[in-house]
Amino acid sequence: MNFSPLRLLIARTSLEPLTPLLSDSYLDGIKHGDFRRWRERLAKLPAICPSNIELSHTVRLGTSTDCDSDTLSLLDEQLREFIPWRKGPFSVFGISINSEWRSNLKWNRLQDSIGSLKDRTVLDVGSSNGYFGFRMLEAGAKLVIGIDRHIPYVAQFWALKHFVPELPIFVIPAQLQQLPLPLEEFDNVFSMGVLYHSRLPYAHLSQLRQCLRPGGQLILETLYVDEEAGNGLMPVDNYARMPKIWFIPSISTLLSWLDHSGYVDIEVIDESVTTIEEQRSTGWMPFESLREALDLYDENKTIEGLPAPKRVIVTAYRR
Ligand SMILES: C[S@@+](CC[C@H](N)C(=O)[O-])C[C@H]1O[C@@H](n2cnc3c(N)ncnc32)[C@H](O)[C@@H]1O
Repeated sequence: MNFSPLRLLIARTSLEPLTPLLSDSYLDGIKHGDFRRWRERLAKLPAICPSNIELSHTVRLGTSTDCDSDTLSLLDEQLREFIPWRKGPFSVFGISINSEWRSNLKWNRLQDSIGSLKDRTVLDVGSSNGYFGFRMLEAGAKLVIGIDRHIPYVAQFWALKHFVPELPIFVIPAQLQQLPLPLEEFDNVFSMGVLYHSRLPYAHLSQLRQCLRPGGQLILETLYVDEEAGNGLMPVDNYARMPKIWFIPSISTLLSWLDHSGYVDIEVIDESVTTIEEQRSTGWMPFESLREALDLYDENKTIEGLPAPKRVIVTAYRR
C-alpha cells in the first residue's frame, strides 16, 4: 500500500490533515488479524505492465498477452486468495473476476443524473475494493479517495492498484468517523450502501456534509422501506441475513434527515428493487447471496419475514 503519491498530492492542500492516516505507523497499528497476511500477499504480486486500461462497465486492466501463461496462472491463484470479491466486475490481464454484485448496474442507475465529475476531487465512503472509484475516474474525476473499514476489501483494491500505480485513486483503510473533520474540500462525496450500517444516521449525514466543500454534492444510496414519513424499519435481528443493519428509513424519512442535516436541492434520482440477477453467488464469491436471503416462497420478503431489499439513490448539496 503505497501512499507516498497521495501524500505528495495533498501536501499543502486542505486535504493535508489526512496525512496521519497514510503513515506507516498508522498502517502498522491496524489491528485486523489478517492485515499483515494481506500485505505479504500484495508484496508477492508479479510486476506486469498493462498494455491498456479500460474503466468501463468491466474495469479492465491489461490483456492476457501482457505476460506469459505461467505468470497468468500464478496471478489467477493469487487473486483468488482475495475471495470473496463482492464488487466488480473486473478483468485483470484477461482474468475475469465475476463478483457477487454486478456493480455496473448501480453505476448505470446514477451516472446520467449526478452531473459531471470532470476535474472533481471525490470521496467514496465505504468504497469497498474501489470499483466505483475506477468508474469515477472514467467519468473524469481528477482524484478519488476511497475509505473503507473492512480490511480485506481494501486489500483487494491494492491488489488492483498494484498494476496501475499511476491512476489517481487510493483507498484508505479507515472509518468515516476517523477522518479529521471538518475537511470541507471534496467536490463530491459518495456514500453508497453505508447509511444502514451506521448506528447514528444523523451523525453519518453530518460527517459526510463536513467532508464537502460548500455547494459540493452528496450522492447517497441506501436501502429503504415503503413507509410513511417519519417511519422506517429497525430490524431486531438480522436483515436479509445481514447483521448490524440498524435503521432502514422510508424515502420521506430519508429526505427529512437530509433536510435537517444541512443539505439543499435534495432529489431522488433512482428507486430499485435488488434482484438475484444483480447480486448472486459466483466463482469469485462462492458463499450464500441474495437468493438465500429471500423467502423461498415470497420474493417480496426476506427470510426473516421483512420487506425484501429496495434501494434509493438521492443527490443533495451542501448549503
Ligand atoms: C454494502 S457495502 C457497499 C459498497 C459500495 N459502496 C457499494 O455501493 O456497492 C458497505 C461498505 O461500507 C463499509 N463501511 C461501513 N461503514 C463504514 C464506515 N463508517 N466507514 C467506512 N466504511 C464503512 C463496509 O466495510 C463495506 O465495505
